[in-house]
Amino acid sequence: MSYLPANDRYDDKMNYRRCGRSGLKLPEISLGLWHNFGGVDVLENGRAMLRYAFDQGITHFDLANNYGPPPGSAEENFGVIFKKDFLPFRDELIISTKAGYLMWPGPYGEWGSRKYLLSSLDQSLKRMGLDYVDIFYSHRPDPETPLEETMMALDSAVRSGKALYAGISNYPAELTKKAAAILKQLGTPCLIHQPKYSMFERWVEGGLLDVVEEEGIGLIAFSPLAQGLLTDRYLDGIPEDSRAAKSWGFLKKEQVGPAIAKVKQLNEIAKEREQSMAQMAIAWLLKDQRVTSVLIGASSVAQLKNNLDTRNNLYFSEGELKRIENILKS
Ligand SMILES: NC(=O)c1ccc[n+]([C@@H]2O[C@H](COP(=O)([O-])OP(=O)(O)OC[C@H]3O[C@@H](n4cnc5c(N)ncnc54)[C@H](OP(=O)(O)O)[C@@H]3O)[C@@H](O)[C@H]2O)c1
Repeated sequence: MSYLPANDRYDDKMNYRRCGRSGLKLPEISLGLWHNFGGVDVLENGRAMLRYAFDQGITHFDLANNYGPPPGSAEENFGVIFKKDFLPFRDELIISTKAGYLMWPGPYGEWGSRKYLLSSLDQSLKRMGLDYVDIFYSHRPDPETPLEETMMALDSAVRSGKALYAGISNYPAELTKKAAAILKQLGTPCLIHQPKYSMFERWVEGGLLDVVEEEGIGLIAFSPLAQGLLTDRYLDGIPEDSRAAKSWGFLKKEQVGPAIAKVKQLNEIAKEREQSMAQMAIAWLLKDQRVTSVLIGASSVAQLKNNLDTRNNLYFSEGELKRIENILKS
């Protein structure tokens, strides 16, 4: 069945925040395809999530060269779905991809050289069947390649028309400043930074949030639910179909136990706020206006729906924030 998006998708279902001091706005909630869109997953489930997301005003889908497993398969699957459902809506979508982690063997298949980044972007475009991506990221800093070379590769990607904007991911605060200065000099401002940020992972509060604000760079927080720990998923054990139970991926069963005592306490506050644990974790990130978008993952339309209902309560009292802080720091 051909897909007709909901006519009311822009009728106040989603808020859009300006990405730093750029001309681009992003939805407060964006959808990432790291998990649940690979060759090991059910394509029609991913397709249903993408359709639902777009119907609800999510205009931003985030990928990377290595998403799968196997690496590359999330981009391939996205390409299949894009062609069937989203081709007429290309101008309504912000599609991002990245290069930085291991993608092919040999000395040119990872990190931050010009050779790797630009070859990888070409491969990503081919896999997704796109002429261009909206955002192309350096996925991680490379301690051996000169920062100038990596930033020049991003600039080239934009100048060639294969990407509209440049972004960086996982760069520490000081390096972000340097990267932003180089990109500015080249005439391709850094649009966005993509760091890991959640109630459980707060390194960005130690400087990066200030840097992005000063530099006019947007920030999109990845793994906002700590891969599912900051939801009700593990409150009664480890479900068989959960990320922690799967043999692939980066959430290990051993990580669940130590987190759950805190999540149970946090969940009590969420209940008082009449929202799910996941919704509270997302709202907690959105309270900071320097956060342009919260980049969630989901394994079902039901989870996506639950997360999108976050907007029903974005307000935190001082008392709630203090109680949350006490739990997180205990
Ligand atoms: N730049 C980088 O280095 C980097 C690294 C990692 C991720 N990312 C990006 O960030 C995106 C999101 O990362 P993530 O998938 O780790 O995000 P996440 O939002 O922290 O975790 C998503 C997982 O949480 C569970 N979940 C989501 N909503 C739920 C709900 N309402 N109730 C119960 N459980 C719920 C699901 O787990 P189950 O699967 O168990 O159902 C889902 O797969 C990625 O897709 C990718 O685009 C970027």
